[in-house]
Amino acid sequence: EKGGYPHFMIKEIKEQPEAIRTTVAPRVRAGLPCLEECGITLEKLREFKSISVVACGTAMHAGLVGKYIIESIARVPVTVDIASEFRYRNPIVGEGDLVIIISQSGETADSLAAMRLAKQKGATTLAIVNAKGSSIAREADMLIYTLAGPEISVASTKAYITQLSVMYLFAFELALAKETVSEAECKRLVSALLKMPEAVKYVIETTEEKCKYVATKLITTDSLLYIGRGLDYALSMEGSLKLKEVSYIHSESYAAGELKHGTISLIEDGMPVISVATQSDLIAKTISNIVEVKSRGAMNILVCSEACARTLEDGIADYVIKVPQTDELLMPISAVVPLQILAYYTAVNKGNDPDKPRNLAKSVTVE
Ligand code: F6R
Repeated sequence: EKGGYPHFMIKEIKEQPEAIRTTVAPRVRAGLPCLEECGITLEKLREFKSISVVACGTAMHAGLVGKYIIESIARVPVTVDIASEFRYRNPIVGEGDLVIIISQSGETADSLAAMRLAKQKGATTLAIVNAKGSSIAREADMLIYTLAGPEISVASTKAYITQLSVMYLFAFELALAKETVSEAECKRLVSALLKMPEAVKYVIETTEEKCKYVATKLITTDSLLYIGRGLDYALSMEGSLKLKEVSYIHSESYAAGELKHGTISLIEDGMPVISVATQSDLIAKTISNIVEVKSRGAMNILVCSEACARTLEDGIADYVIKVPQTDELLMPISAVVPLQILAYYTAVNKGNDPDKPRNLAKSVTVE
């Protein structure tokens, strides 16, 4: 059942190209996003003035990437909330607002309760769910299934990547509705998205060995940091969660520019810092943070685009994991892969079962 792999986690990581393809391809018509079968039309999208994304854990991290994408191309304001916070803070949502609930299982108690609250307040709800016929899928006004197939590993990988893929499709369609991108530009973006399965396949092939090696450097550490800016910050949060959940190593993700406001005092000799740098307008700034932590003794692990690797001076990063260049907006889809692989091999090196991390359940149906 594990298809020859020792764990579901690595099997599911490797199924990601297919999962993206299955999720995206049926929702593209004549080169443009087509979400009509999900109840989403351009007319409907035009009405929404604001969007709230509500989810837990990894699904919430997919929402954070979604926020960047939607705001940058469709220019609609987006807030992202943890479901267990949203539902208890009397959120300001109502008619004319769209609330997007993201959930792999479709049964997460807080996400379901948050969705019911949003409906009760008059907002329109859109669920992005993997498990067919689950409670969240059944009760939402509009529904886009991620078609990742069953995810067995407790640590979410292929569900996350399909959640991202759906957020992109949705953002492209919304941008078309709001006329913030031309049809030609939208087609260009969709065609770039359709190429991501190939890109992810290539990333798996070219980074697995390096990640496996770098993972051996993490076994003895008890704490590390992830840093990034913009989309890379959103992604580094997911990298950090994945690592801590399966390896039991404490880790935190910080916006790179926030380091000097307190966190940099944690850096001491040999502490691993994992930086993500794929966005060319922010690379120089992130590199200056990498230099800062280096001079305080950090062991720098850098997950970056080829463009970023070219600007890096020798001796700054101890280990560089290069991700091939794709359209920059889409880089999170390929750059998350080495972060997942790194987490997987760190767990395996420590003798943990990555499929069943201690104290965790696949579906959180308690509040
Ligand atoms: C982490 C992980 C969890 C889930 C979270 C939400 O790898 O899997 O953080 O993402 O419990 O679960 P769903 O998506 O089922 O609502």
